[in-house]
Amino acid sequence: MFDTWEELEESIKNCNRCKLYKGRNNIVFGTGNKNADIMFIGEGPGADEDMQGQPFVGKAGKLMNMAFEIVGINRQEVYIANIVKCRPPSNRNPEEDEAQACLNYLRNQVMLVKPKIIVLLGSVSLKNILGKEYNITSSRGKWIEKKDILYMPTWHPAALLRDETKKIDFIKDLKLVMEKYNQF
Ligand code: URA
Repeated sequence: MFDTWEELEESIKNCNRCKLYKGRNNIVFGTGNKNADIMFIGEGPGADEDMQGQPFVGKAGKLMNMAFEIVGINRQEVYIANIVKCRPPSNRNPEEDEAQACLNYLRNQVMLVKPKIIVLLGSVSLKNILGKEYNITSSRGKWIEKKDILYMPTWHPAALLRDETKKIDFIKDLKLVMEKYNQF
């Protein structure tokens, strides 16, 4: 574990712990407030993220930004990261060995941010953070507390692009997050 953001980012830039490093243009480290109370964890970079080196800047990210505006989340005030820092080819899900190779980087980010709330975006995020026994359909919208962190699983923003009806759930879940945050 690294005590500083600079060391952590540098080590990810040089990472070749899994095969994803071969296809990356940029690592997608994470963005936002490094002392945020709320952290969002996605799955992994897509093509736009890989080109820009920033999480959630493509279609799904734009939809997420719209939802943030609706519920009053300021993107600069939260921290946003992913399970894997390099783009999986053809936007496939990260494979088990890839997620495992990368998870300590995310754990290090969580250690440095010290968020009170973590929003888990989609099944890959939920299963890698809380365990394979969790299912996004039954877990979304419900608080799960572990080691002094409150987790809110919700749909991945890309799922909203495929199924419009999920937008309502997503907004509802983010409203729960803001309600809780406002109680701190
Ligand atoms: N999807 C993700 O899970 N993460 C991103 O950064 C972009 C799209």
